[in-house]
Amino acid sequence: MKLICRYFLKQHVLQCKRTLIGDILLRSVATCLPPHADEASLYVHWPYCLKRCSYCNFNKYIPRSQNHTVMTECLQKETRTLLQLSQISRISSVFFGGGTPSLAQPSTIAAVLETVSKHAHVADDAEVTLEVNPTPAGKASLRDFTLAGVNRFSIGIQSLNDDHLRTLGRDHNSQHALQTVSEARMLYPGRVSVDVMFALPGQSVKSWESELEKLLPVCDDHVSLYQLTLERGTRLFKQVESGELSVPGDDVTAVMYKSAREALEQAGFLQYEVSNFSKNNAVSQHNVGYWRGQQYIGVGPGAHGRFVPRAVGGDQREARTQTLEPDVWIREVQRQGHGMRRRIQLDHHGL
Ligand SMILES: C[S@@+](CC[C@H](N)C(=O)[O-])C[C@H]1O[C@@H](n2cnc3c(N)ncnc32)[C@H](O)[C@@H]1O
Ligand code: SF4
Repeated sequence: MKLICRYFLKQHVLQCKRTLIGDILLRSVATCLPPHADEASLYVHWPYCLKRCSYCNFNKYIPRSQNHTVMTECLQKETRTLLQLSQISRISSVFFGGGTPSLAQPSTIAAVLETVSKHAHVADDAEVTLEVNPTPAGKASLRDFTLAGVNRFSIGIQSLNDDHLRTLGRDHNSQHALQTVSEARMLYPGRVSVDVMFALPGQSVKSWESELEKLLPVCDDHVSLYQLTLERGTRLFKQVESGELSVPGDDVTAVMYKSAREALEQAGFLQYEVSNFSKNNAVSQHNVGYWRGQQYIGVGPGAHGRFVPRAVGGDQREARTQTLEPDVWIREVQRQGHGMRRRIQLDHHGL
């Protein structure tokens, strides 16, 4: 949700109030309460990355070494604890995000999914998404992740322009991105999403439009489109502040967003919320769950969740954030079954 550009959300909602998308969006966000008290989606956070991208302020760490066995045990343990605490008996979708969860071992993904299935009902066709970095190093094969239970890939290609990828500090190039998308599409045609960013340093409307022309024929049925947010504390923020780099202004950015929406529409994509587009009805069930105010459980360092802790007599939804730092989180999970940094009770309107 944080990534949704608020400026565009306002503009977009004003603009499409009279359209079908606007109606669906507003109705879903404003009125849909969780359909079933015992149902939720599950978000699992893998906090490690190979390298720090220049724009990123997600909860991620570049470790010297990782203990996959301990991480696996802790993710399983916290999943169990939070399922029991919420008394959720049905998990509608699972999303492995990060960080870079494609650096996790497929056996970790399988173990978490097995724990979920042991404690809740998961439909055979439930959406199970893995975020994948197209980085050539360190990741297991996508096929191994499908054998572990993943049935949807969300690939962080970010850009198909190698200069932009370098500025962003990515450890992949456009060739790696195209290769990963094509590999994923062979495994799960129709269930592959790509993340793309615009309003990048040095990007013009013309170069953005030619990037879209390259992207649309090769992408699958789902696109997440994010306007670059300059996050305080990141290297990119400092580079822009010092004048070393410059990003397009608001007017140019608005034109970029508009031209992307038009290009996607022409390519058969339906915009189902501010940043997400799908064709052939490949809407992300997990994403739609957030917009509809469904309960979700967040497992792993820094994960967010919103659910009612029924096992301890709760009757109100809580917003929970797990402990951020992986080593501290691991110790807390080992000691008490979960690592929790913050919990806030939400009132009726605080979905
Ligand atoms: C959870 S993040 C990272 C996923 C994965 N590690 C990667 O980098 O590909 C999901 C998406 O958020 C977007 N994102 C991250 N930081 C952003 C920022 N500062 N501004 C806009 N979009 C951002 C990127 O498109 C990214 O793929
Ligand atoms: S790989 Fe993704 S999560 Fe990791 S630093 Fe880069 S943008 Fe952030």
